[in-house]
Amino acid sequence: MSAREYVRLEAFVDDIRTHFPCFSSPEWEGVHYLDNAATTQKPQQVIEAISRSMRRGTAPIHRGLYPLAETATQGYERARKTIAGFIGARSAKEIVFTQSATAAINHVAEGWLKPRLRPGDEICVTRMEHHSNLLPWQRLCRAHGAKLRFIELKEDGRLDFASARLCINPKTRLLALAHVSNVLGTVNPIAELAAMAHEVGAHTLVDATQSVAHLPLDVQNLGCDFLVFSGHKMYGPSGIGVLWGRHALLDDMEPLLLGGGMASTVNEDIAQWRNTPDRFEAGSPNLFGAVGLEAAAAMLMAVRRHALYDRIEQLSEYMLDSLLCMPGLRLHGPASPQQRLGIYSFRLADIHAHDVAAACGEMGVCVRGGNHCCQLLHECLGETGSVRASLGIYNTADDVDALVSALYYTQKHMQ
Ligand SMILES: Cc1ncc(COP(=O)(O)O)c(C=O)c1O
Repeated sequence: MSAREYVRLEAFVDDIRTHFPCFSSPEWEGVHYLDNAATTQKPQQVIEAISRSMRRGTAPIHRGLYPLAETATQGYERARKTIAGFIGARSAKEIVFTQSATAAINHVAEGWLKPRLRPGDEICVTRMEHHSNLLPWQRLCRAHGAKLRFIELKEDGRLDFASARLCINPKTRLLALAHVSNVLGTVNPIAELAAMAHEVGAHTLVDATQSVAHLPLDVQNLGCDFLVFSGHKMYGPSGIGVLWGRHALLDDMEPLLLGGGMASTVNEDIAQWRNTPDRFEAGSPNLFGAVGLEAAAAMLMAVRRHALYDRIEQLSEYMLDSLLCMPGLRLHGPASPQQRLGIYSFRLADIHAHDVAAACGEMGVCVRGGNHCCQLLHECLGETGSVRASLGIYNTADDVDALVSALYYTQKHMQ
């Protein structure tokens, strides 16, 4: 990157920070937020979209025939269309709004895979999955005599392709894996693995919860069959998530929640469901979640145009260099910034991860300590937990420096 481009990007980051009101609020004085893998801050665009929708006056979605209700319905459906464009879906009908990524995965497990899973079938996951992309499959396997298989990791925290070739076989019904690990930051080669799954007649579900905010996502290029993510990790509101699925597969999925808005005809003992995606959105839809999510996606599409992701990669390099230089710090995951995405989990000497996170917190540096809902992965790393620092689009070299100083201080005073 040329010096000129770099200066332009730096200016853009300064500008990006001004879009996030929290950074100019007095409570944030001296705060360095590095817990973006857990949840992200909200930009003015998202706050405004929700507030505008609330100020304009609330009306029900898909239920009212007066103009206010029609405007609300149009806003909700426009959000679905924007999200479809954001991830390269063929049609807005392939976008189901859920409560979260967790809800979306559970829907596929219970509504799509459960009715077709037979004893002896296999579900394939990786050793780095978040519990949200593990427990639903575990329960299905236990209940249906199916086997859960794990793609193992290499020493550097990347997936072991030899293990993948063994795990993905003609008995595999579904390969369910994270695009990016929420502990290691590893970026998994989804297209290659999805092609491997398709070769044996299996489908692929991608948990894009950690990649959606920081990688351009295109479901056609990824070659997957289902993809899920949550709004709150992509600078949008919480309480909304997305399930994308190929239309024919969604049409074959059972709705899990039954109730208002999802049935076309109801008789005394049976009901007919409405078409996809309405039949998966029983109950009053989350309008404010949808418009907030749409605003977040629009912001990220603008960010992509400014090549801000290149800057995150640069900051990643700086973070990696800084952490790798620290004596007593054991960093998990790939050592190359090209193979990981802004997430760094580590052990600091013999200090418990909770103590490190609490000490950093007192110095204004927000990181997470614990197993990050990945107990199996930590077992595999020989740890019970780790400290995790994760970058967002608004972080700067200053935040990285503050983390490093806090870690030095912690090590000096707690060891
Ligand atoms: C990789 C991954 N998958 C799934 C989830 C679950 O997301 P949510 O709690 O928003 O449903 C998380 C949350 O940390 C995650 O990091």
